[in-house]
Amino acid sequence: MDKIVIEGGRRLEGEIRIAGAKNAALPALAATLLCPGKFVFSNVPDLKDIETMCKLLAEMGAVVKKESSGILTVDTERLEHCEASYDLVRTMRASCLVLGPLLARLGKSRISLPGGCAIGERPINLHLKGFQNLGAHIALEEGYVNASAPDGLAGQKVYFDLVTVTGTENLMMAAVGAKGTTILENAAREPEVTFLADMLNKMGADIQGAGTDRVVINGGRTLKAVEIAVIPDRVETGTFMAAAAITGGHLKLTGCTPLHLEAVTLKLIEMGCTINEGNDWLEVSGPKRPHPVDIETDPYPSFPTDMQAQAMAVLTVADGTSVITESVFENRYMHVAELRRMGANILHKGKNAFVGGVEKLSGAQVMATDLRASASLIVAGLAAKGKTHVRRVYHLDRGYEKIEEKLKKVGASIARRADRGGE
Ligand code: EPZ
Repeated sequence: MDKIVIEGGRRLEGEIRIAGAKNAALPALAATLLCPGKFVFSNVPDLKDIETMCKLLAEMGAVVKKESSGILTVDTERLEHCEASYDLVRTMRASCLVLGPLLARLGKSRISLPGGCAIGERPINLHLKGFQNLGAHIALEEGYVNASAPDGLAGQKVYFDLVTVTGTENLMMAAVGAKGTTILENAAREPEVTFLADMLNKMGADIQGAGTDRVVINGGRTLKAVEIAVIPDRVETGTFMAAAAITGGHLKLTGCTPLHLEAVTLKLIEMGCTINEGNDWLEVSGPKRPHPVDIETDPYPSFPTDMQAQAMAVLTVADGTSVITESVFENRYMHVAELRRMGANILHKGKNAFVGGVEKLSGAQVMATDLRASASLIVAGLAAKGKTHVRRVYHLDRGYEKIEEKLKKVGASIARRADRGGE
């Protein structure tokens, strides 16, 4: 197991290239199961979760090749299996994204029910209910979802009780293989959903309205394999913006899409940051000391839940009190206890966290519990006085490509070390 050690107090200065988006690449890789052929992906981030999805596709018979940095080919000419095992799914919940495409192409799929995770129970009941609307038979046995549609899927209206990103993506992929028209109401509007719809339309599908809460899919069309570049990672972008904000630094982020994180940019400006942006780049300068802001997370285009922990890290040293409301996940405050170990003054009650700004955090041994909590501990460590040891960084490696190398390049004193327990 590794840990990351940071000597805080350095102002970040320089340029960072943003990687492709994990949460866009995962559904796009699952979509290759929809039809035979050789897909070529570029700008694919080098992440644990991407490796896991590639392993899953290979287990089903696809031929997956990492060509060079960022280029990945997936040949789905032959599909032999339609099962995603518990061991695989428990390491990555997004494995459930193979359900829709397998139902569409093979009329069956057997995947382990994803368990909960640190940030919440995260059921997939809305995915399953949607598949049943399209005529699939769903049986839960021994912790597995057995989905079948022997007579194929038929287009229908699907209403999501809650906005669900992967639920929208899964149903969009199933609907592409259904006869007739499917309408998704209360659909997720995230840029990653729109990216998937763009890829499916390039494959020959007919999807209208992606990016709005009503998506119309005319299914049953012939599909072909495509080449596509993965969109930039808006959460990685926001995380480095938070790093500039907390260190009073100045970063230029290239290969990003500022349009995809306007809610985050507005909050960072309220905190006192100066931000200039172009189509595919932005420059952020942090203030001497951040100002407090109130943040409520909600589905896109509101402030993203995936940036809540990183924003909280910045607000722990603001010159006042901030109120954060986490409205998407029921337990996404695992980072609070760890930030408190660094001297943060946070009171967490239910959905709310009251963050009383302190002058300075102090370095400490802290434990990563989930992907974005780990990112918030890195952000806090960059500004804390002394050394911070962030342990269990395998959480971080799921969603951030070489984060310590990127931060070192802009002046951080940061290194990855083997974690031999009590060190
Ligand atoms: C996606 O997860 C992202 N993951 C998450 O990013 C992100 O935090 C989340 O969307 C919200 O933006 C990927 O795209 C791979 P949801 P997803 O379904 O789709 C409830 C990261 O850090 N719900 O939009 O699993 C659910 O419990 C990860 O990169 C149901 O109740 O999230 C949650 O409270 C973490 N039943 C809310 O809806 C369902 O069937 C939103 O979840 C589905 C969801």
